[in-house]
Amino acid sequence: MNKIKKVCLILGTRPQIIKSAPILKELHKNNFVVQLVHTGQHYDYELSKAFFDQMDIMNPTLNLGVGSGTHIWQISQIMSKLESTLLKLDPDIVLVPGDTNSALAAALVAAKLGIKLAHIEAGPRANELTPEEINRRLIDHCSDILFAPTKNSLTNLRNESVYGYSYLTGDTMYDAFLENYDKIKRSKVREKLGLGNKRFVVVTIHRIENVDFSENLHKLIQILAGIINLGIEVVFPIHPHTRLKSRQFNISYNQINIVDPLGYHDMLKLIEGASILLTDSGGLQKEALWLGVPCITLRNSTEWMETVKLNVNFVLGLKEKAILRKVNEIINNSDFRKRFRNMRNPFGDGKASRKIVSLLSRT
Ligand code: UD1
Repeated sequence: MNKIKKVCLILGTRPQIIKSAPILKELHKNNFVVQLVHTGQHYDYELSKAFFDQMDIMNPTLNLGVGSGTHIWQISQIMSKLESTLLKLDPDIVLVPGDTNSALAAALVAAKLGIKLAHIEAGPRANELTPEEINRRLIDHCSDILFAPTKNSLTNLRNESVYGYSYLTGDTMYDAFLENYDKIKRSKVREKLGLGNKRFVVVTIHRIENVDFSENLHKLIQILAGIINLGIEVVFPIHPHTRLKSRQFNISYNQINIVDPLGYHDMLKLIEGASILLTDSGGLQKEALWLGVPCITLRNSTEWMETVKLNVNFVLGLKEKAILRKVNEIINNSDFRKRFRNMRNPFGDGKASRKIVSLLSRT
């Protein structure tokens, strides 16, 4: 007999929807009463509803409709709306995936209300105080149960002496990847984008530290121009915030193949066909690894050192010369892809959600 019967999962952004999908399925399979609260942090169809449809997730029980604003405004809005919501829903436990503002706000409200709190994707550290790192550290330190995706994450939690119980479960994003692999394979995105047999790289960039500064976005354009000079096409699915900032900073994307944000299956199929992924996203660094595609991380640090140690992810910030050198090196090394053969996946065995739900059943 489960002591925990009513589970409230709180999410608000695109990557949180992906991380949560396999857990929601597993919770239903195991007859939990599931409440799903969407904070409304992401509200555009391409960043939210499209992912609910593609990942076949239940409709949210409730959407707080918070939307965009400064981080402090956003976190405080979510917190004040969530307080009365959680008091009404009265769950036995709150599940919070990832490191977004929605996750931090939800974790603080659950903790302050004295509701049991579990963090999914606990323990990754970039050791640089970016907004996401602040969020993940604070969430980990007020959680009762922590589900670590990798051994490295578990070690971080132990070293920090977190209050709650930590378990190594594997990464639920990898569960989602495996569950969706056939659909990814079937995507016709490359034909739709007219890529044919062209050699291309995929670029994504949306972090505040990169896009909110005119000089950084200009530097990115310079780097992409350098890649185009090597005879390689650049495909750039653009986050709405990056588009907004580009307009503000008068940036034009000549010769760059700008596309609207893509759905889950299309995005992964696009990356699978790319020579290299250049990104400042956290999740995409892992997905590139699973797809056997080299990654250049456009940040100064990463919370996924596991991918760096495997020598397939290179953390180069926006250093133009280093990036162009690395792109050249990768595309001229026909043996590079061999690195992915027989590679041990540090992110588990695709059964993280099953382990998490089984642990919840025994809590
Ligand atoms: C958030 C997460 C980030 C995650 C990313 C995935 C935080 C601190 N950051 O970043 O960790 O990698 O989601 O995409 O929580 N906007 C729209 N439509 C939307 C949502 C946002 O146009 O549906 C625009 C608005 O201008 C908004 C800006 O994007 O101000 C930033 O949105 P926000 O949700 O604050 O952060 P993301 O950059 O998406």
